[in-house]
Amino acid sequence: MCPTPGPKGRFGGRTHWKARGIFVVGKRQASHGSGAPAGGRGAPRAMGNGHVPVLLSRCLDLLAPALDRTDPVHVDATVGLGGHAEAVLAAHPTVRLIGLDRDPEALRRSRERLAPYADRVRLEHAVYDELPDVLARLQLNTVDSVLFDLGVSSMQLDEPRRGFSYARDAPLDMRMDPTRGITAADVVNTYSAAELTRILRRYGEERFAPRIAAAIVRERQREPLTSSARLAELVRAAVPAPARRTGGHPAKRTFQALRIEVNGELSALEAALPAAIGALSLGGRIVVLSYHSLEDRIVKQAFAARARSTAPVELPVLPPGTGPTLRLLTKGAEVPSQDEIEANPRAASAKLRAAERIDPDAPRGRAIRGGRTVTRPATPDITATQTTSDTRRPRLHSRDTQAFEGGP
Ligand SMILES: C[S@@+](CC[C@H](N)C(=O)[O-])C[C@H]1O[C@@H](n2cnc3c(N)ncnc32)[C@H](O)[C@@H]1O
Repeated sequence: MCPTPGPKGRFGGRTHWKARGIFVVGKRQASHGSGAPAGGRGAPRAMGNGHVPVLLSRCLDLLAPALDRTDPVHVDATVGLGGHAEAVLAAHPTVRLIGLDRDPEALRRSRERLAPYADRVRLEHAVYDELPDVLARLQLNTVDSVLFDLGVSSMQLDEPRRGFSYARDAPLDMRMDPTRGITAADVVNTYSAAELTRILRRYGEERFAPRIAAAIVRERQREPLTSSARLAELVRAAVPAPARRTGGHPAKRTFQALRIEVNGELSALEAALPAAIGALSLGGRIVVLSYHSLEDRIVKQAFAARARSTAPVELPVLPPGTGPTLRLLTKGAEVPSQDEIEANPRAASAKLRAAERIDPDAPRGRAIRGGRTVTRPATPDITATQTTSDTRRPRLHSRDTQAFEGGP
């Protein structure tokens, strides 16, 4: 049922949401940090079932300024096993959390884990690019923070029947949502050699893509490919012997490529990031953890596009509303410490980027452009000051400014 529209405005939808009893804030008010990980606001720790959320304390620190305000709403776009979500709920006793996941089993597990906070949690079975629909259903105009922890969960990897792992034999499925969509078996048994080559190259960055695609096509003519172990062995045999000895299991890149294809991972991310940024209130924050270069590139580009002005570069003055809408909170991508990687090897490939929603018309102070610090006036003009010695070209305006101001 579609709820009736609530009053417009920043908190209009939120009042309505509360009034409908979807969340009742205050029934269980954990004291600040009572359930938070030891060592301050979220030092990494194994939670509940031994699951360790990646870069947990850094995520909590980055999200905190957006959540330490009245009536905060946090979206966990990939709630998974609820590890990050649990820590956010524990650290912020008034936060209401919307958790999305496309995997019904992940939702079942996170619902169990987050049961102590049930009155502040709303879990939704959704692909994260459906966030605008979810917010519209909940009559929320804005949210204060969004976390994306991309990729597969340890539960999905460790559950043999899901078929994500080349290390165990299972049906070739790889759907994060087993209730819909094509399986990895559909891909390997129906795509042409050219299509297989394309996805192996693009999503797996596999240099032996044509050889592997040809081997798949040959093998499936004998008998359809349905098992992960058979595919893993076939890939291993298709890769030249010297290359088998480097870069981990030879099937790793093929399995990554199939998983990305089956779940439409990159297109969902490309659509979800602008939607999430667009839903942030001023001062709201977005944190994204990615696990391979294709994801990280999309995040980097989505953030960079909004951290600069949209005005044509030749205009001497920025028209209203064309300033940056994001301030980058991380310089480049942050990675886990060696200690964290030793404690949780699955964190090894993690890259974290974060940004804050800002008013495109607000005057701003320092910013970094092309490695040089520039001062940005309220109405940027050619008097913009450079703190470096490069004064050869007048700076017309800060169109390309990457508004990075360090961590919070
Ligand atoms: C790395 S896990 C998240 C772990 C979580 N942060 C925690 O602490 O337990 C990623 C989760 O995102 C979900 N997921 C991946 N892509 C998704 C998408 N496009 N839409 C919604 N959920 C997605 C997966 O099903 C998985 O449960």
